[in-house]
Amino acid sequence: MQKDPSFVDTQMKAEPETVKNRIEKLRRTIEYHNHQYYVLDDPEISDAEYDRLFKELIQLEESFPEHDDPDSPTKKIGGPPVPAFYPRTHSIPMYSLDNCFSLDEVASFISRIEKQISGSVPEFWVEPKLDGLAVEVIFEKGRYSAACTRGDGTTGEDVTANIRTVKNLPLRLVETADLPDYLEVRGEVVIPKTKFEELNTFKTQSGQKPFANPRNAAAGSVRQLDPTVTASRPLYFFAYGIGLVRFKNKDTWNRQSRIIEALNIMGIATVPTGRICRNTDELRVFFDELTRLRLDNPFDMDGLVIKVNDLSLQSQLGYTAKAPRWAIALKFPAMQEKTRLINISVQVGRTGVLTPVAQLEPVNVGGVTVSRATLHNEDEIRSKDLKIGDMVLVQRAGDVIPSVVKPLTDERTGRERDFIFPVNCPSCNSPVIRLENEAAWRCLNLSCPARLEQGLIHFAGRKGLDIEGLGKKWVSILVRKGLVCKLTDIFRLQKTDLLSLERMGEKSAQNLLDSIAAGAKKTTLARIINGLGIRHVGEQTSKDLASRFKDLDELAAAEQGQLLTVDGIGPEIASSIINFFRNPENLDLIRDFKILGIWPVNEPALPKDLALKNKKFIFTGSLSRFSRSRAKELVEELGGKVVGSVSRNVDLVVAGDSPGSKLDKAKELNLRIITEDEFLDIVKPSDH
Ligand code: IVH
Repeated sequence: MQKDPSFVDTQMKAEPETVKNRIEKLRRTIEYHNHQYYVLDDPEISDAEYDRLFKELIQLEESFPEHDDPDSPTKKIGGPPVPAFYPRTHSIPMYSLDNCFSLDEVASFISRIEKQISGSVPEFWVEPKLDGLAVEVIFEKGRYSAACTRGDGTTGEDVTANIRTVKNLPLRLVETADLPDYLEVRGEVVIPKTKFEELNTFKTQSGQKPFANPRNAAAGSVRQLDPTVTASRPLYFFAYGIGLVRFKNKDTWNRQSRIIEALNIMGIATVPTGRICRNTDELRVFFDELTRLRLDNPFDMDGLVIKVNDLSLQSQLGYTAKAPRWAIALKFPAMQEKTRLINISVQVGRTGVLTPVAQLEPVNVGGVTVSRATLHNEDEIRSKDLKIGDMVLVQRAGDVIPSVVKPLTDERTGRERDFIFPVNCPSCNSPVIRLENEAAWRCLNLSCPARLEQGLIHFAGRKGLDIEGLGKKWVSILVRKGLVCKLTDIFRLQKTDLLSLERMGEKSAQNLLDSIAAGAKKTTLARIINGLGIRHVGEQTSKDLASRFKDLDELAAAEQGQLLTVDGIGPEIASSIINFFRNPENLDLIRDFKILGIWPVNEPALPKDLALKNKKFIFTGSLSRFSRSRAKELVEELGGKVVGSVSRNVDLVVAGDSPGSKLDKAKELNLRIITEDEFLDIVKPSDH
């Protein structure tokens, strides 16, 4: 009989190297994909693949703390809370910028410096001015070492733990010949406009005060004592310059454009779309281009910054007390306008939240006509002291959803009136309530047509059942005509029902029925969960729940403890799910999905950390798919243990090719024996 290799011995020798290499390889791979995704906006792998790599790294780092590294990409998820932000003085002050509002003023700026250097300025480096929070990030020997806010320009706050979590910021720089020993990078921390809106929706729904604009959201997120909160915010850092820099054997860069190029090569994202301009004509072209792009830009920008490109000219020009003489910001035209607040209406969302909406006399703000603006909640109206009939200042904060900044109280005539929040739902007339600690009033009637309408729009939407053609317009008609009284009613619609509607012909009726059927057929458990619109349960959480629970029945019966084992689910989300399924109407809805046969079933993955907890494994024979050491890692990642000798305590025996005497002994002891494939099913259920 072939001798079973004593893998415990070989493991002991081989493991430290293998694990270390694997960890380092995973770190490099994840860093590479972070750069592709967050900096280049060109992801190469799916989110699921990325998550798998990330989880593997976390588990290896937990099992082998001796290979810990503070700059591992896993450390971007936020460390322990800090007691306070300590002051930190900049090695070189962080200056502000002088502003101007026209190209004429830029022309005077240029002639002023031409006079000072007695010659003509050869070129400028020009880039957007991002509207966020100025931060300095320090790298020592290519590794992230500290970060500090601009503060008053001389001293800022040490926000090292928080800036570490910024999505597109590498913790290790790409090693180039140009890599400084010590490098202070300066730039702006910003939040994408769309994410700002999502964050505000979440804040208002959970009774918190919304951020006024993306800049405040970015600043508020950086100034969190708990870095995990910062980590949960979609923050990005874009560099526009440097502070102190030290190289081993070279002088610093000689042009602004070279600095930007070098930072990019090191893996640091710089303010996008910067370019060289040689005269006012080129500046005008760029300014017009950016003014047009401004609204579509994912980040807020409030103008462009024009900098003398040559660094020796910059130092010749120097600084005033506040700003460099070699740079100027050309601001976009104001995005605030005056208009009248005609009325305040109240909208009911799918979770029953009542949102007051300002009805405005239409006004053009930065090229877009604004006639409505959300007022978030009752407290917001009070704290802003808004009255119906007021002249108000309206802004498109960060080109996002318009908002009412403040009333122009000097212009009051006395005819303005207070807004009284309705005590009944404007859609179904049932009494509304305001829960303790919440800013929002809610309609609790689950059959409220307005709630149903919004709920159905979400259910049929892209992240729900993705039913083409069932958008706002038809949903509203179907609900108002009483053809749909609950979500699942759409699957029972008949052609005759649809033909009774105005502007619905034979062909469109058939198309709509076909796409509803197609949506039902191709749907997944995750899409249904997301489509239900459970509070705090978005697309990702729905996916996580779907991979943990077999079907809707299992999810509906889940207890708090089970829910908490799902990635990203904390007590608040868990209670929201439990409350949702406590409601008899929602349970009826689930039953209805089953009756209709819209019932995707998943083979759930056991929660990884529990799957093999305390289970003892033994391997015999040779494995064809992976090495013994990898097999051991896989078992350990799931909480199991690999032992060396066969005994009654062994839970599973994995028999590879040409198994040894251990297999005979295992059979004698009646132990459970599995093949390599079965083993793979246990440790990597989702891989094949
Ligand atoms: S250059 C000494 N470039 O604007 C040069 N600043 O109003 C100073 N800012 O505190 C900065 N985008 O936070 C520069 N492309 C850009 C910028 C930028 C945004 C901010 C920066 C600074 C403020 C000055």
